[in-house]
Amino acid sequence: ISLKKYNTFGIDCKARNFVAVTTVEELKEVLKTSEGSKRFILGGGSNMLLLNDIDALVIHVNLKGISIISEDENHVIVEVMAGENWHEFVLYCIENEFGGIENLSLIPGNVGTSPIQNIGAYGVELKDIFISCEVLEIASQTEKTFSKEECQFGYRDSIFKNEAKDQYIITSVRFQLTKKNHVLSTSYGAIQQELKAQKIENPTLKDVSNAVISIRQSKLPDPKELGNSGSFFKNPVIDADAFKTFRIKFPEAPFYEVSPTQFKIPAGWLIEQAGFKGKRFGDAGVHKNQALVLVNYGNATGREIWELALKIQKEVKEKFGIYITPEVNVF
Ligand code: EPU
Repeated sequence: ISLKKYNTFGIDCKARNFVAVTTVEELKEVLKTSEGSKRFILGGGSNMLLLNDIDALVIHVNLKGISIISEDENHVIVEVMAGENWHEFVLYCIENEFGGIENLSLIPGNVGTSPIQNIGAYGVELKDIFISCEVLEIASQTEKTFSKEECQFGYRDSIFKNEAKDQYIITSVRFQLTKKNHVLSTSYGAIQQELKAQKIENPTLKDVSNAVISIRQSKLPDPKELGNSGSFFKNPVIDADAFKTFRIKFPEAPFYEVSPTQFKIPAGWLIEQAGFKGKRFGDAGVHKNQALVLVNYGNATGREIWELALKIQKEVKEKFGIYITPEVNVF
């Protein structure tokens, strides 16, 4: 079957075999009966670029359900099954007045894949509200729990991209959210501007969520209209020496001090300065409002997108001496 509607880039690659599972028991069964053959685990398909047909059994994790595990006066712990859509879960929290997740509104993808790259936006990361996740070990089909420490979260990074890569399937995630005395993260410039434009002085969870939604809609393309995978590259972090040299040559460049020895440069700025913003090569392109986002205008192949990414990577390296690496998973 074609995987076009299962990846937000809208790449028309085929799967040798495909199965969607809706319960953990079904998932165990499928893993057991397919032992020895190649398998490919598919969640929301929002952070991947497919270069080839998938010569494997594609297992689409479609487990659903949201339940409250415990609560007290101030906090609630919610367990969400892996196949729930991320943004729908955010909306559920806003409706129930559960705080902590509002800045992560409108991020494409499913809950089960959100820990893998520690999704983040506008000053909040998944790890800030994450408690633990349940996984199935693929080889043994046994259930395990990963605590927050065990997940080793970093900037767009976790153990699931490193030592634990390809070994587990996340089946559900637990989050701790606030029921009152919410701590809003509104220091991000764009959020402040948005709230000010709306004349909102004491924002609610919904106000912050709406602000994030309108910022995202103004610069990030909707995958339903234009295939994309959000930020294609990570923002590079360079050391103090490299930063010093860079800053002398490009004093106007925006940057963010991660630590006294580490500086993060927005890859979107580097790509824009390298002349790629809004450029189109066949059906592969660089978004006109956010240079960090590569887009599929309709019938681009994964390889065409990837060639464009490599060209960008090369030219950014030549112009700035900075190597940018993909944030999306390339298969
Ligand atoms: N910029 C440009 N030109 C561009 C894009 C950006 O010059 O075309 C510069 C501007 O100076 C701007 C700065 O880059 O102020 C930062 O841009 P933006 O606020 O859009 O954020 P970003 O660093 O490009 C990151 C995340 C996004 C997240 C936003 C907001 C990564 C790789 N990306 O983007 O996450 O929504 O911050 O917090 O860290 C994603 O991961 O898919 C994603 C969309």
